[in-house]
Amino acid sequence: MAESAALVEQAIGTLIPSTDLAEAPLFEAMRYGCLGGGKRLRPFLVLTSARLFGVNLECAIRAAAAVEFVHCYSLIHDDLPAMDDGVLRRGRPTVHRQFDEATAILAGDALLTLAFEVLADPATHEDPKVRCLLVSALAKAAGGHGMVGGQMLDLIAEHETFDIGAITRLQRMKTGDIIAFSCEAGAILGKAGRPQHQALRAYAHDLGLAFQIVDDLLDVEGTEAETGKSVGRDAAAGKATFVSILGRDRARAQADMLARQCVAHLEIFDGRADLLKAVAGFVVARRT
Ligand code: IPE
Ligand code: IPE
Ligand code: MG
Ligand code: MG
Ligand code: MG
Repeated sequence: MAESAALVEQAIGTLIPSTDLAEAPLFEAMRYGCLGGGKRLRPFLVLTSARLFGVNLECAIRAAAAVEFVHCYSLIHDDLPAMDDGVLRRGRPTVHRQFDEATAILAGDALLTLAFEVLADPATHEDPKVRCLLVSALAKAAGGHGMVGGQMLDLIAEHETFDIGAITRLQRMKTGDIIAFSCEAGAILGKAGRPQHQALRAYAHDLGLAFQIVDDLLDVEGTEAETGKSVGRDAAAGKATFVSILGRDRARAQADMLARQCVAHLEIFDGRADLLKAVAGFVVARRT
């Protein structure tokens, strides 16, 4: 993960250069929101799934940077006072605290659009059909029927009763769909066959859910020093989460079960997906 993080951070630095134009604060806020911390799980998933299909590394790094742009934009907006009102992110003040709210909104907007600019660029893949598929899949994962829709449900979950089915759907949309895209991106870039593509989607589906359950657990059990972000916010907002519905023990058991279940989908790769299998263990054991 450290290796792929270094590769993608270098690419991010190049794709968002500092500037001395009058609008420079926008680019500084984008760099601040994307550089300096973060587990870079999604870039890792892009690079690792791409390697399964022998995808050119430079191409995979661009797709990985694009996913991380969408992820960082989602965090910047998620932390805004109108949403979770986070003050700490990746061990530093959130973007709206470091700059101001309007700049944070604009930095998020610009990161989201930059992601698609990067994917649509011929440097990401020589075949325009592949670029179109990437753009379309990321748009679906990030949009109203994916991450943004999940964020809407997450706000509604602060004042409406959600059952376990509704929470599962919310989590799959707000977190799972971008994680699923990250795994799928390698298959799209490598023009993988349908069974392998489907296997990665199924793996990512369970992995994403396990990931968000642990995020909810860390909001209760973790410290700001460990997670680098504001904790205790879900309970303070009265938000329905896996933890509020199932309790900590059952939520933990559910995450462990999903982490075991997700690796079964990778059998089709005959031992070539061991890194992806190992990441499932990381996702549930993590304290950050
Ligand atoms: C946090 O994501 C937000 C969720 C979708 C749960 P990460 O835990 O991957 O955050 P970073 O990128 O490591 O900071
Ligand atoms: C955020 O979920 C998910 C997205 C940004 C799409 P959370 O609100 O639980 O993430 P944290 O806990 O602030 O990182
Ligand atoms: Mg949130
Ligand atoms: Mg939040
Ligand atoms: Mg959280």
